[in-house]
Amino acid sequence: MAKILGIESSCDETAAAVIVDGVLKSNIISSQASIHAQYGGVMPEIASRLHVENIGVVLKEAIAQSGVTYEELDAIAVTRGPGLIGSLHVGLQAAKTLALLYKKPLIPVHHLAGHIYANEFVGEFHYPLLALVVSGGNTEIVYMKEPLSFEIIGETKDDAVGECFDKVARVLGLPYPGGLPIDRLGQEGKDTYPLPEPLKGQKTYDFSYSGLKTGVLNLVNHLKEKSEEIRLNDLCRSFEEKALTPLVEKTMKAAKEYKVRQVIIAGGVSANTLLRAKIKEAAMKRNLEVLIPPLWCTTDNAAMIAKVGEKLYSEKLFAPLTLGVDPNWLLKDFRSF
Ligand code: KG4
Repeated sequence: MAKILGIESSCDETAAAVIVDGVLKSNIISSQASIHAQYGGVMPEIASRLHVENIGVVLKEAIAQSGVTYEELDAIAVTRGPGLIGSLHVGLQAAKTLALLYKKPLIPVHHLAGHIYANEFVGEFHYPLLALVVSGGNTEIVYMKEPLSFEIIGETKDDAVGECFDKVARVLGLPYPGGLPIDRLGQEGKDTYPLPEPLKGQKTYDFSYSGLKTGVLNLVNHLKEKSEEIRLNDLCRSFEEKALTPLVEKTMKAAKEYKVRQVIIAGGVSANTLLRAKIKEAAMKRNLEVLIPPLWCTTDNAAMIAKVGEKLYSEKLFAPLTLGVDPNWLLKDFRSF
């Protein structure tokens, strides 16, 4: 048990959180989403600059709310990647500076390990388990034989599923990020439009989303050419069915092959209403335990980084205070993937 400060800045959220003996004491997030929405996607240069502006304020608030001082912390955990390099850099420099100043161990954390372990705020993990990690940049099935052990058994060969939601939303004239508007419209629609089924019939646990994205684009162009009305609700639902069904089917198939006890979902797309319902139903049918994160855990935050930091700290998996001597230490595996 320990007092851990977590820092996250991998994309467009600047976040800091403090965990004390397993209890989340503060969780501050400054989101840049409304600014990037004007451009239809995250602008890396703007994201980095906003992190620079916000990191100090977010840290100050997270520490103040936690009731813990920097001196009292046991360690500082920070997202080491994956993410936008300029954005990551801001959080990493803040974390390194604090670690040097207050002489605290620094713990680099893989962003997706954070998304997976965010689920531990709401339930216990029962190993071996499978994590379906679905976000704007990732689509992976991860086998976890034991705590902090990550084996990717399937992944996307091209676009990530969240990226596909965002691109399809753009084609349909919906705002960025496109996941939530498609989710809402799809709830009112029916699966009536023909769309390609990515990698159908292939035996691997891999995914592909570029064909589906092009399929929606071709369909929309075709309907426009014929001046046919586009039933947005139905098109969103049809797209969701094709995008989400392989995620659920392949996860269930892998669950059987790997004989896991539990299935969990993580990342931004795990907020999707249809995906949550499908995974729950499929798991229940197979008598599998399933952990569905609350919505606050599906978006980027630093609580999840502090959570993994706490685990690595308890296993003494952190860097010594020799920052700068070995520039590669931040990339060291520390059992994350
Ligand atoms: O985890 P996240 O913030 O991305 C990365 O760190 O990569 O997830 C963002 C992604 C976006 O692509 C967004 O459209 C998608 O998650 N998303 C959703 C929903 N809410 C967010 N996708 C489908 N349904 C949703 N309800």
